Amino acid sequence: MSKITTATLRKFKQEGRKFTALTAYDASFAAAFDSEGVDVLLVGDSLGMVLQGHDDTLPVSVEEMAYHTRCVRRGISRSLLMADLPFMSYATPEQAMTNATKLMQAGANMVKIEGGQWLLETVSMLTERGIPVCAHLGLTPQSVHVFGGFKVQGRDADNAQRILDEAKALEGAGAQLLVLECVPASLAQQITEALQIPVIGIGAGKDTDGQILVMHDVLGISSGYIPRFSKNYLKQTGEIREAVKAYIDEVQQGQFPAEEHTFN
Ligand code: KIV
Repeated sequence: MSKITTATLRKFKQEGRKFTALTAYDASFAAAFDSEGVDVLLVGDSLGMVLQGHDDTLPVSVEEMAYHTRCVRRGISRSLLMADLPFMSYATPEQAMTNATKLMQAGANMVKIEGGQWLLETVSMLTERGIPVCAHLGLTPQSVHVFGGFKVQGRDADNAQRILDEAKALEGAGAQLLVLECVPASLAQQITEALQIPVIGIGAGKDTDGQILVMHDVLGISSGYIPRFSKNYLKQTGEIREAVKAYIDEVQQGQFPAEEHTFN
């Protein structure tokens, strides 16, 4: 099986073929997800919540992200490996360069950063120097305290327009993927159609090019709050590899996310 690259994902978009992504934080789960055919694995800073037990992602360090990226890299043979730059590790373009370098040297194929307009210079600088960037808009969890909670974004016309404009500007600056989190499905559809680059949704409806979920939600082992947009596939299948296969199958068939997982 040939390796997934950003070019593969762009081809999937052009062909209208839906792709899947999951978070992974260690070599064993990464190997299982990779061999079942998950296209993109994300070492998410969600590890601050699901592995470390914090209330949000803010305490995660670059060193912790690099450690988990090295672990996941050892389990992968096909999937594209993306790693999150954590809170305040890319506040300036120079910091972004230093810290993205650490994640790429730990084995990432690309880095993900949260934010819009203020990141344009950073996206160009990283891309020009050989570090592919996935942008992340909508509910960007590192800004949870600015939002006043984990809330759906882009519900009103002004904010929806801002997110659309920022998505176009990030693509123009060189971003090669976009994650859209917790936005109304109609906005996600509009952005997906407006961009050449693939758009991955989480809580963004069924019309994005790909879907991503946190592995702990798919396996039903997240403690506390279970997001409405996620789905426990282990409950319906009873086995981890079967759960992953069911997730891939439902995304490819357009069955996940269903109406009950969608914000309108
Ligand atoms: O950190 C993470 O797991 C993420 C996904 C929710 C997209 O950013």
